[in-house]
Amino acid sequence: MKWVALLGLLAVVPAVASEEQVRLQEAEGRTRAEAHCSMCHSLDYIPLNAGILDRKGWEASVNKMIKVMGAPIPAGEVPALVDYLTRNYGKQ
Ligand code: HEC
Repeated sequence: MKWVALLGLLAVVPAVASEEQVRLQEAEGRTRAEAHCSMCHSLDYIPLNAGILDRKGWEASVNKMIKVMGAPIPAGEVPALVDYLTRNYGKQ
């Protein structure tokens, strides 16, 4: 009954993966956000704020990460990051 063990494995692997790393919404800009926003804290911070922050809120949040927390995010990347965050995690 080898296939039973195999089915078990298939069920376990995705569950483990999702606990270890939060995947952001698949959309243009996801890899950019994952690269810039996972340096200091979990990417959880983004979905946790979904539906709370509007465009201005996300913009302020990204700027706070840069100015207050010292995130090394180039100014030219900010508009695209804010676009991604607003489109996928913005207040509707
Ligand atoms: C240089 C380190 C650093 C980077 C890079 C960074 N953050 Fe943060 N972030 C912090 C710190 C420090 C806190 C507050 C302390 C904590 O609770 O961990 C924080 C908190 C937050 C919070 C919680 C609300 C708040 O304002 O305290 C959100 C939302 C957030 N970050 C979003 C982001 C996003 C989106 C990015 C990518 C654009 C990002 N962070 C990149 C350091 C960083």
